[in-house]
Amino acid sequence: MWLGAGTVLLAAGTAGASSRWGEDYFPNVPLITQNGEVIRFYDDLLKDKAVVINLIYTNCKDRCPLETARLGQVKRLLGDRVGTDIFFYSISIDPEHDTAEVLKAYADSFGAGPGWLFLTGNEADIKLISKKLGLSSINDSADRDGHLPSLMIGEASTGQWMRLSAVDDPRFLATKISTFLSDWNNSPGTGKSYSAARPIQGLDAGSYLFRTRCSACHTVGQGDGLGPDLLGVARVRDRAWLARFIKTPEEMLAEKDPIAMELFIRYRGVRMPNLRLGDGDVETLIQYLETQTVAHESGERENAAASSMKSLKRPPRVERPRPERGENDEH
Ligand code: HEC
Repeated sequence: MWLGAGTVLLAAGTAGASSRWGEDYFPNVPLITQNGEVIRFYDDLLKDKAVVINLIYTNCKDRCPLETARLGQVKRLLGDRVGTDIFFYSISIDPEHDTAEVLKAYADSFGAGPGWLFLTGNEADIKLISKKLGLSSINDSADRDGHLPSLMIGEASTGQWMRLSAVDDPRFLATKISTFLSDWNNSPGTGKSYSAARPIQGLDAGSYLFRTRCSACHTVGQGDGLGPDLLGVARVRDRAWLARFIKTPEEMLAEKDPIAMELFIRYRGVRMPNLRLGDGDVETLIQYLETQTVAHESGERENAAASSMKSLKRPPRVERPRPERGENDEH
C-alpha cells in the first residue's frame, strides 16, 4: 500500500496512553544507538516526542545514501528544533552488519550531529518496528532495496502519523514536518493546511532533478558537500564517462575505473548512489550542470566587475578552493 506525501496515515485516536497508535501499538523493544547505548523503542524514543523515522542499511549502493543525506539537509533546515522538540531516528534493517560501531562511522560521515540517532538491534524486533510503522514492504526479502524510500513523521502521544517520500525536495520536507507537527500541537482543524506549504518556484526539469536527487550531496560552484562540487565537471570529464558514472557509479567502481577509484578514495565514507535514473534524466542533468556552470561563471564575472567599481572598503571575496580534478584540468 502506498499513500502519497501529505496523507495522514493513521487517524487520531484519543490522545495519551490510550491512543490507538501509541503505547499499546508500538513495541517497547530494546535498541542500541550508534554510541552503544541500549534504549527502549517506545519509552525512550517515542513517548512524548515528535519524531522522524526512516529505515537504512549502511551497505546500500542504491538510494539510501540519498535518503540519509536528504535527512541531513532537512535537519539543517529545521535547525535547533531537532534534538529539542523533534527527534530523528534512522533504524538499520541489516543489524547483522550494522553494529553500533558501523553506525557511528556512518553517522559521522554524514555529519549527523545531535538529535539524530542511528539504531540497531535484534532482527525480529526491527522487523516488528518497521511493520508497525508501515515502512516495510519487502523487509524480509533478500533484496533490501525493496524497502520504501520513505519517512514516517509523527507523535505517539497523539497517534498522528504521516508518511513522506524520503527523496522529496528538502525544503518541502522541512515545511511538511514543521506544519504537520505545529498544526497538530496548536489547533487541529484551524492551523495552516499542508497545502499552504509554499510551492517551490521556478523549477525546470533539470533543476528539479538536481534539487531532489543530487543537491543533498552536491553543489554547482558552492564548494564540496558530501560529494564533490560539480562546477565544470561536464568540461573536464568525457561525456560518455559522465553519463555512465551518474547512472551506474557502483559498476564503474567495481570495474576499477581509475577516476571512479580516485574519487571514491577522496570522498571516503559517503558513496555516490545509483539513483536508478533513465538515460533521458541523465542527459537533462548533464545539460543542467553545463548551464549552471556557465551561469555561475558569468555571475562571478559580474560580481568581479561590480565590486571593482564599488568602494574599496568592501571585504574581499573569499574563494573556496576548487577540488582537483585529475589530469585533464586545463580545459
Ligand atoms: C548521497 C550523496 C550523493 C548523492 C545523492 C549524489 N552524489 Fe554524486 N557523488 C557523491 C560522492 C560521495 C561522489 C564521489 C565519488 C564516490 O565517493 O562515490 C560523487 C561523485 C559524483 C560525480 C563525479 C565527479 C567528478 O569529479 O567526476 C558526478 C558527476 C556526480 N557525483 C553527479 C551526481 C548527480 C548528477 C547526482 C544526482 C542525480 C548525484 N551525483 C547524487 C555523492 C552523491
